[in-house]
Amino acid sequence: MAHWLIIFCAVHLASSFQCDPALNDTLKARRALHRCERFLAAQCHGQNRLVEIPGTCPQPNVGMPPPATSLFPGTEATELGCITRSSRLGRALWCLARATKSALELFTGIGAGSSLLLAHALTAEKPTLGRFYTVDRELGNAVHAQEVMRVFGLPAQVLRLQGPQGLDELTASVVQKPGNWILQGDVFKHPELIQALCYVTGGMDLIMLDPPTVDFRHTWSVMERACRPKFLVVHNTNLPGHAGWLPSFLKRQGGWYEMMNGSHPSVWETGVRSWSLTGRCW
Ligand SMILES: *[C@@H]1O[C@H](CO)[C@@H](O)[C@H](O)[C@H]1NC(C)=O
Ligand SMILES: *[C@@H]1O[C@H](CO)[C@@H](O)[C@H](O)[C@H]1NC(C)=O
Repeated sequence: MAHWLIIFCAVHLASSFQCDPALNDTLKARRALHRCERFLAAQCHGQNRLVEIPGTCPQPNVGMPPPATSLFPGTEATELGCITRSSRLGRALWCLARATKSALELFTGIGAGSSLLLAHALTAEKPTLGRFYTVDRELGNAVHAQEVMRVFGLPAQVLRLQGPQGLDELTASVVQKPGNWILQGDVFKHPELIQALCYVTGGMDLIMLDPPTVDFRHTWSVMERACRPKFLVVHNTNLPGHAGWLPSFLKRQGGWYEMMNGSHPSVWETGVRSWSLTGRCW
């Protein structure tokens, strides 16, 4: 009996290392994600667009993500290309984050779309457990993100980054606490930030990347090593110079598998913007 168990475990470990998508963990995770997204989609008339058609999704509550929201006068968040619950990506992101305890987002932008979805998924129902971190260079963006979260009853704090690690002693001790943390500063000016943040917080379950056209290779290798994310979401995978190389690189490298991918019409140009959601084998 023991002998058979050992053989079974060896086989199981070997195949989970190869990350066979038919294996139970990965399969279960993928199925649960698709189920959750389909459930929300059904309540939002199945639409997959960034501009939500008024009256097509229910009021936000703990079981329904909030709509993209802009507090800048005369602008709609959806005009600014924010990721929302009216898109498959917005719903999948919220579903995935709800199943985790921590997430890091680069970058906040105006904080009205994916930041709000992540803050809601991680802290609306489990304020004593969930931790959400988002980083942006612009103070105006950070403050706007904080205000948007407040509108939905999600308290958030803006912390300004200082020094190479970005975190002074006080910041390092507060960011370990559950809540929404908006880190204002430049990760490229604070090259040790990611490492320091993941060191004090014990890693991140989910990383959301929507970086502009910058070379992200070094930052990713630090993230993978220091934060050990279980899930990675990348938006704008089809835009040249963005982080689209990363999901395909991880799949080729092994140890990662794709959970979902898709696209939605762009609000900036004709055509679509694609995304990918990957999971690490464990
Ligand atoms: C997967 O789950 C099924 C049903 O729960 C079980 O019979 C099977 O042994 C599991 N397989 C692995 C590889 O864990
Ligand atoms: C997106 O997912 C589908 C279905 O799993 C897969 O066949 C396809 O190759 C994926 N597309 C990309 C660009 O990875």
